[in-house]
Amino acid sequence: MSQKPVLSIKDLSVSFATEKGLCQAVKKVNFAVYEGKTLALVGESGCGKSVTSLAVMRLLPDLANVSSGSIHFNGQDLLTLNKNSMCSVRGNDIAMIFQEPLTALNPVFTIGEQIAEALLIHKRITKKQAKDRTCELLDRVRIPEARKRFDEYPFQLSGGMKQRALIAMALACEPKILIADEPTTALDVTIQAGILELMKELQKEMNMGIIFITHDLGVVAEIADAVSIMYAGEVIEEGDVYQIFENPRHPYTKGLLESMPTLQTQKGEKLKTIKGSVPNLFNRTEACNFENRCAYAKEVCRKEKPFLEEEASGAKVACHFHRTIS
Ligand SMILES: Nc1ncnc2c1ncn2[C@@H]1O[C@H](COP(=O)(O)OP(=O)(O)OP(=O)(O)O)[C@@H](O)[C@H]1O
Ligand SMILES: [Mg+2]
Repeated sequence: MSQKPVLSIKDLSVSFATEKGLCQAVKKVNFAVYEGKTLALVGESGCGKSVTSLAVMRLLPDLANVSSGSIHFNGQDLLTLNKNSMCSVRGNDIAMIFQEPLTALNPVFTIGEQIAEALLIHKRITKKQAKDRTCELLDRVRIPEARKRFDEYPFQLSGGMKQRALIAMALACEPKILIADEPTTALDVTIQAGILELMKELQKEMNMGIIFITHDLGVVAEIADAVSIMYAGEVIEEGDVYQIFENPRHPYTKGLLESMPTLQTQKGEKLKTIKGSVPNLFNRTEACNFENRCAYAKEVCRKEKPFLEEEASGAKVACHFHRTIS
């Protein structure tokens, strides 16, 4: 892509100081987000998706340490900003919809108050203007009777409505980047489809870049332009959505796609799973992280970690045998 990225993450590593020792949760991760485009971060539970996004928001818990890397946004490295400057970026320029969104609303404030607050913090506007704008936003995310809903508490809204309210809150200040961490996982499929449509529509209108975190490849196919596949804290394959779905190169990506049900899957047929479990993040070795689960692994995989290499197609993959396996 020749366009300049809005957000670019270089060599980001995050570790946690735990009782069991140092856990390297994210290791040398690189990716870029472009205006109006969606990057999906995909991988199994525990692979470092949330930790990566919390690092961008500078919301990691105290025991976490960013041990290397930079996060460039708007000509500055977010990792070097002071607290006040970071507060004005957070919510205003970069907003996030958190994992487990249905518990993210505060039960003691009304929906309207919670959205208006984001506006009052970041914009020079009066309370009346904030209320009007909040009602416009509620209307925009298709919450019916916005004026009435403004005064309702979270428990009075259905799951899908709460999710729409959270989208309204994240988008209140028209951020340049939206990070959505599994925003539709807790919703049933039809409501999920509606929310994804809405996000795409709002993205078009505001031209924002989205980082969409999910382990659901069906959702990826629906919403992503580019995809980064993470495994054990590292990006092991990246490419545009067609490359990933039509010509996956990494054995792990192939495994993920094979474990997805298709229209040809018969009722009662067992889906393929990837055998084995993720490596220990405490004692990282020089081996390929996926070696113990990989059907193609050879001696070299146990000795040398493969690095991301660019293919002729422009996709990148970290596997010693990415050119030979089919
Ligand atoms: N508070 C913490 N203390 C110690 N280690 C942590 C903490 N939070 C995360 N980790 C480590 O970081 C790794 C990555 O966690 P992360 O939450 O980013 O996973 P994830 O990909 O978002 O998974 P999920 O799909 O389940 O949300 C975990 O495997 C864990 O080892
Ligand atoms: Mg997570």
